[in-house]
Amino acid sequence: MLDLSIPELHKALEREGYICDLEQAVTIYLALKLGKPLLVEGAPGVGKTEVGKVLSRVLQTGLIRLQCYEGLDENKALYEWNYQRQLLKIQVLKETGCAAVDETSLFGPEYLLERPLLKAIRADRRVVLLIDECDKVDEPFEAFLFELLSDFQVSIPELGTLTARQIPVVVLTSNGERELSDGLRRRCVYLYLDYPGVEKEVRILQARVPEAGEKLIRQIALVTGYLRSQAELKKRPSIAESLDWARALVALNAHCLTEENLHFTLNMLLKNQEDQDLVRSKIGLAALLNSCRENETGPQEAGRREACRAAGGCRRA
Ligand SMILES: Nc1ncnc2c1ncn2[C@@H]1O[C@H](COP(=O)(O)OP(=O)(O)OP(=O)(O)O)[C@@H](O)[C@H]1O
Ligand SMILES: [Mg+2]
Repeated sequence: MLDLSIPELHKALEREGYICDLEQAVTIYLALKLGKPLLVEGAPGVGKTEVGKVLSRVLQTGLIRLQCYEGLDENKALYEWNYQRQLLKIQVLKETGCAAVDETSLFGPEYLLERPLLKAIRADRRVVLLIDECDKVDEPFEAFLFELLSDFQVSIPELGTLTARQIPVVVLTSNGERELSDGLRRRCVYLYLDYPGVEKEVRILQARVPEAGEKLIRQIALVTGYLRSQAELKKRPSIAESLDWARALVALNAHCLTEENLHFTLNMLLKNQEDQDLVRSKIGLAALLNSCRENETGPQEAGRREACRAAGGCRRA
């Protein structure tokens, strides 16, 4: 099922822009090697969905995504009959003078609309099936899901049992909005994604927004990390937010943080008014900036900071 060794997989994930620790690479490797679904949990914006996407690139195969929501049912997830086509057929039969319509002829494969789950197990080539935000579905649908993930076959009353042509690589993600059943967890290899530390965030920013430059990237990682450590925040900034912030700063031609550009871009990092108020009034932008400066290393850095200040507002030419 998998030709890559652990170091090769780790490298391939990073080559495709997904920065991960060896532990994460080993977990992903085991899911692939054992042919088990990978259940990825973690806070919003820490890179859960990206695991499915990057695996399809690493394995050079298609990605079929089932976006879960409350009320999702088998019709939308598995298959439904193409009623319009069936009606059309009945009409044609009537117009051509056919006395009785043979019902079974209306429930052949040509009238079947394959939805993501069926598509994934009936694909000719092994695909990556991303079942995104599976904690949003109702319990009965979850039970159906874990049955499907056990046998990879589907019973359609009118057609019989359809078995998988290829067992897909399955990635399930969850924000933990609802506790998943033990049955589903038992069938999966579990990967928990936490917020990254500064060094990992620097690498992610380097991979995703290299144009931000080394200095700004480090400052962004330090400030984001510092904010994540503030227990009073309602919503801690995730990787998605630090990437957005970096892009915003680049768009403003910043090459290092200043109180001014922090003031104008704080809304890219903190996406609600209360958190912004907390940072502006209680922590203070100057203190926030200092927190990252204190953490920067070495006298060289202090010199660069001075030069930056002297350049007046850290604008690029
Ligand atoms: N380890 C990583 N390496 C590179 N990019 C990453 C990494 N983790 C997250 N990202 C990037 O961060 C952004 C958010 O990731 P993603 O959408 O996968 O988060 P999520 O956990 O699925 O969020 P949500 O719970 O809101 O759906 C994406 O642009 C993704 O490419
Ligand atoms: Mg997601």
